[in-house]
Amino acid sequence: MFLWAHLIAGILLLLVVILALAKKDNKIAPYMIAARMLYIFMILDGFRVLVPAIQRNITLSFIKIIAAIGTIALIEFALVSKAKGKLTTNRVLAAIGGLAVVFVLGFILAQGRPFIGA
Ligand code: HEM
Repeated sequence: MFLWAHLIAGILLLLVVILALAKKDNKIAPYMIAARMLYIFMILDGFRVLVPAIQRNITLSFIKIIAAIGTIALIEFALVSKAKGKLTTNRVLAAIGGLAVVFVLGFILAQGRPFIGA
């Protein structure tokens, strides 16, 4: 259940980031609030799913958390630049690329769950 919640929050975060960065104007305050609520949720929920994961693969768990926190910073850079009307392609690529890396690391760490296995 905590893993499903983690996955759904991750997908919502990806959608919020894409919608905010693709918006025609720079009025993205509601998207920024939603993204921040999702990070807080993902950090708290992440610690819950970390308990079994750390026993399985401590190194990858560590890498995954560092990548996730780094990605949260990259998303913040992109959203703040967008809100100020100074968004660059590099910032968009960094935020989306970071999310892609975290998704891949997450699925490797969770061994394909919640889709494959118990
Ligand atoms: C940008 C934020 C994050 C994204 C997009 C993200 C995404 C994911 C995804 C897609 C998975 C695969 C399993 C699933 O589908 O639920 C996963 C697994 C995992 N995530 Fe995250 N995550 C984020 C932040 C965090 C944080 C902050 C932590 C730790 C505090 C964390 C800890 C974990 C752990 C331990 C697993 C493996 C769970 C298991 O093996 O059962 N994640 N994450």
